[in-house]
Amino acid sequence: MSSGHQTRYRVVGGNPLQGTIFVQGAKNAALKMIAASLLAEKGRTVLRNVPVIEDVRRAVELAQAVGAVVKFHEVERTLVVDASELTSSVLPAEITRQFRAAVLFVPALLHRLGEAVLEGVGGCNLGSRNLDFHYRGFARLGATVDQGESQISVKAHGLRGAHLYLDTPSHTGTENLIMAASLAPGVTIIDNTAQEPEVQDVIAFLSKMGAKISGGGTGFITVEGVRELTAVEHTVMPDRIDAAVFAMAAAITGGELSLVGASLDHLGVVRWKLEQMGVEFATQGAILQVRRERQLRPINVITSPFPGFATDLQSPIMAVSCLADGTSYLRETIFDGRYMMAGELNKMGAKVEVADAVALVHGPTPLRGAKVTAHDLRTGIALVLAGLAADGETVVSPGYQIDRGHASIAARLTALGADITEEGTD
Ligand code: EPU
Repeated sequence: MSSGHQTRYRVVGGNPLQGTIFVQGAKNAALKMIAASLLAEKGRTVLRNVPVIEDVRRAVELAQAVGAVVKFHEVERTLVVDASELTSSVLPAEITRQFRAAVLFVPALLHRLGEAVLEGVGGCNLGSRNLDFHYRGFARLGATVDQGESQISVKAHGLRGAHLYLDTPSHTGTENLIMAASLAPGVTIIDNTAQEPEVQDVIAFLSKMGAKISGGGTGFITVEGVRELTAVEHTVMPDRIDAAVFAMAAAITGGELSLVGASLDHLGVVRWKLEQMGVEFATQGAILQVRRERQLRPINVITSPFPGFATDLQSPIMAVSCLADGTSYLRETIFDGRYMMAGELNKMGAKVEVADAVALVHGPTPLRGAKVTAHDLRTGIALVLAGLAADGETVVSPGYQIDRGHASIAARLTALGADITEEGTD
């Protein structure tokens, strides 16, 4: 597996961004579709508008590790999957350790080979990785789940429909259980399902393959098991997080951008929050125009499942809030401890306090360049945003975190007038 050499991004701030940006395909839909394409025993699946990002490369490597023939035509952003012969039920540790979405390959391996082994995720990881809804769901559908010291093994000699319930509307949990139920004889009902647009795109893809799924977008999904699924062609929806990050890049630099492929509906509450801050949106046919001219106003944000404020945008809006005139209040409710951004922003001169699971951002504070750490994908891209507005040079590393989820970020921002370069740290 190649996760690429160590890189970092150097950003020199101060340039208002201007121009046209093409929103990439949705990471959190494409990854599920790659896994779902392994459910088809015959033919070749073609996925279009696949983002050229590291997480997709990891998903391709996993599919190849279990025997699928996969070709990622990166220039064409098109992936071709031939899963007619799967040869291994083992999802190897060197990929699963840095790719949590590996669990999405379990349904295809269970249906095709009767077993899935996730290496590198055993022991107490099962609880702390919070994938219990997935494993409990597989068990309710008739699988046996064994947790070893360093691996989890799931076995089934034929799944069957059942009534499932998710304690919270888990995004990948919903998709994974729909995939498992699609080929399980009988009817599966899943209560309290996620309603994110990506879930609906995955349902659209599976339905094209022949799955019988109803209730997408309602929180209550019914799946009628079918005998087989066939390989089809599908175009991945645009990435709403990538779109919102560019909208925030316009906001934080006081620029104006035309977004191609962004949907205001997919932004949910994020759109209203940015408007409250003083960001202006205008649709011109299929183009979404975003600009910021005025002083930013502070904001209150509570993350919640779609259509609420996306947790993946909590770090980016923390960066934007630093420039707002007053104190902003940000509360994370989806993932514990997703405030690593605060310490990094403070290195850049921000005044962010985290107390009682709330982040208070006292603005406006001028940001200055610093060496900062991308603790995860979303803090990484948020620190790039902060760097675009900072005085002097910001160095964000490791670059890999950003490359996991945003395609060609330096090239796309440079085309809009940003001063950003990617460099190796070797
Ligand atoms: N949870 C459990 N048990 C489970 C599953 C989830 O307790 O079995 C908890 C989680 O710990 C978390 C909450 O439920 O507190 C929500 O987790 P969810 O399952 O919805 O998240 P996910 O499906 O693992 C996806 C995205 C994330 C995004 C979240 C929330 C993918 C591959 N990942 O994760 O994306 O933040 O939904 O929308 O689709 C990212 O792109 O940077 C990213 C982290």
